[in-house]
Order: sequence, then C-alpha cells, then structure tokens
Amino acid sequence: MAAAVPIEITVKSLSESGLKSIPSCFASKNLQDLEVIDPQEGTIPIIDFPLLTSSDPQHMSKIIQDLGRACEDGDSSCTNVVEFQLINHGIPESLMKNIMDGLKGFFDLSNEEKTEFQGNHVMDHITRSVFNADSKKVHCCRDFLKCFVHSEFHFPNKPAGLRDTAFEYTGETREVTMELLKGVSESLGLEPNYFSKALDLDSGLGRFIANLYPPCPQPELTMGIHPHTDPGLLTILIENGISGLQILHNGKWFRVYAPPNALMVNIADQLEVVTNGKYKGAIHRATLYGKAMATRMSLAIAYGPCPDKVIRPASEFVNESHPPAYTALTCGEYYELHLANAYSKITALDYVRIQN
Ligand code: OGA
Ligand code: NI
Repeated sequence: MAAAVPIEITVKSLSESGLKSIPSCFASKNLQDLEVIDPQEGTIPIIDFPLLTSSDPQHMSKIIQDLGRACEDGDSSCTNVVEFQLINHGIPESLMKNIMDGLKGFFDLSNEEKTEFQGNHVMDHITRSVFNADSKKVHCCRDFLKCFVHSEFHFPNKPAGLRDTAFEYTGETREVTMELLKGVSESLGLEPNYFSKALDLDSGLGRFIANLYPPCPQPELTMGIHPHTDPGLLTILIENGISGLQILHNGKWFRVYAPPNALMVNIADQLEVVTNGKYKGAIHRATLYGKAMATRMSLAIAYGPCPDKVIRPASEFVNESHPPAYTALTCGEYYELHLANAYSKITALDYVRIQN
C-alpha cells in the first residue's frame, strides 16, 4: 500500500472549511491584559516624504526634527508611538495595488502548487507557513510568505507576473528606506550616509513578508501575529484596506489606521541597538479586529545589514553617561531569535539588553 500523503493545512484552508469556533491551539492568553485605544490625532506622526529632499533649509530642518521625534519613544510624557506614516512617498498607487492583488493570487494557489516554496529554515531564501496542529505552540491566525529580496532577489515564480511586480515594489521600497535612513542619520546629528556606510547596507538583507489573515469565527480569542519587534532597521508596511496593526506605547495598545496609500513605517531592532536605545524598536502585533469576517492582507518589507554583520551600539552613542546598553549579536542571530520567540512574550531585544 502506498504511504499516505500528508494533507497540508494552512490557516486559509482551515478558515474555508467553515469552522464555527477556533481550534484550541489558536487561543492566545492574556489578550485583554492591556487597554486598547484609538490614537488621538498627532499620536502617530505623519512624515511628508518630499520634504526630506527639500532645498529649503527651513523645511529640511523641520522634517528632520519631526523624523527624529517620530523614532523616539521616551518616558510617559512622550506623546508619539514609535511608528510613523509616510505620505507622498512616490511609490505608484497602481504598483501598491498590483502587489497586493498578486499576493492574493499567490495565497489562492493550491497547497500542492505552493509546496515547493515551503523552506525549512529561517534563513532559507523562500519560506511559507504550514500549520502543524501537533506542535505545542500557540498558533497565529495567519499564513505567510517570506523571501529574501536583497542583496539577491529570491521570489516564487507563480502566479505569472508576481515576481516582476515584487521586484519593482521591493526596489521602490528600498529607495524610500535608504532616503529615510539618510534623514534618520541627520536627525541624530550624523552625516546622511552614516548607516549605509557603517552597516554596509549595499550588501544588506531585504526581507519580504506577506501576511494573509483569513476570516476568523472568534477574532477576540486569537491573534494574527503575537507582540514582537522586527529584525532590521526600518520596516515598511502596507495593507489591503483592512486595519489590524497595534503598537504598544506607555502600557497601552494603539490601533493603527493608515491613510489611503500611506506607508506605515516601524523602527526595528537594529536601529535601537546601533543608537544605544536613543531610538526604539516598535513593539507591535497584528490583531483581527478590523473586520473579522473579511480577509486581511499586509506586506512588510524590512531592510537591514547582512547576516554575519555584528550589531552593537555604535561609538557615537556611547559615553560615560550612556554605557553600552546592548550586547553584540549578528543579524543572522536576530533572525533565529525572532523565530524562536514568535510565540512568547519575549522579544529579540530582551536578549541583548544589558541591565545597567
Ligand atoms: C510583520 C507584522 C503586522 C501586520 O509582518 O512583522 O508585524 O499588521 N505585520 O500585518
Ligand atoms: Ni512585525
């Protein structure tokens, strides 16, 4: 008798099977332990991208100041969360729509067609989620596709056309990220190419993460992605018009609603470590609160240094009153830590923080 071929399950196929309640392995604990609120105007800063390259020195210094403030999450008097929304970024609306439509096409492929993109290890070029009901972990209500898109571009070759769209979109987001990093450097009083040079970003990693959150019968009991920070320097996120992202700030979860066509930008781990904590990695999670019976999709692109680059507080941010607050770790190790802690309350930064 031929061996039975295991039937692969995704969260999407589970959702489509018409469950009336979630399997217990999806039930998250402590979901209601902190207050969830809608942000007041100004809590999530808006950055007008063209001002970053303005020839008017007054505009320029104002936007650099705004950007610096957007990256800091200080004491309780600090009003903004460490996320900002980027408008007038120049990425065509049609390209943003095409990439989301194409990704929907990817998730709609049959599980057999997607099998070749499974991957085994966090550093594999292409990986995708497969649900394993036997594992002891608490599952997230999402399917994902993750690819490394820089310095080499790796991407599935189906559905037709998506690879080219992804190449174009990731090229555009890289340009935006590099320009933002120039502004971030200047906001710290450093020369514009500081991060690019100090961290060899030409050979750095680009990570593409597409998330699909299928309709869920009990969204209040589960999570799309558990609280975490992102590996990399900055993450650029878009969604398909359905909200779900929340950012932790001063002990409360802030719901994030992006203006149409804006990019949501999160500060990521390595910017916190290199700046010795001056700028802070955003603790965030993906909930299913938006429209529980609709399919939400999001796409996160994060650029950072190459896997063997050791990340530690840079000398510019260390002095007698600011001793190093983080231990050194390679970027590759950050990816491993992220995977290992995807279902725990501990973020990768908790491992490297030194209690001074
Ligand atoms: C991520 C992430 C948030 C979202 O992919 O790292 O945080 O809203 N996504 O989907
Ligand atoms: Ni994230």
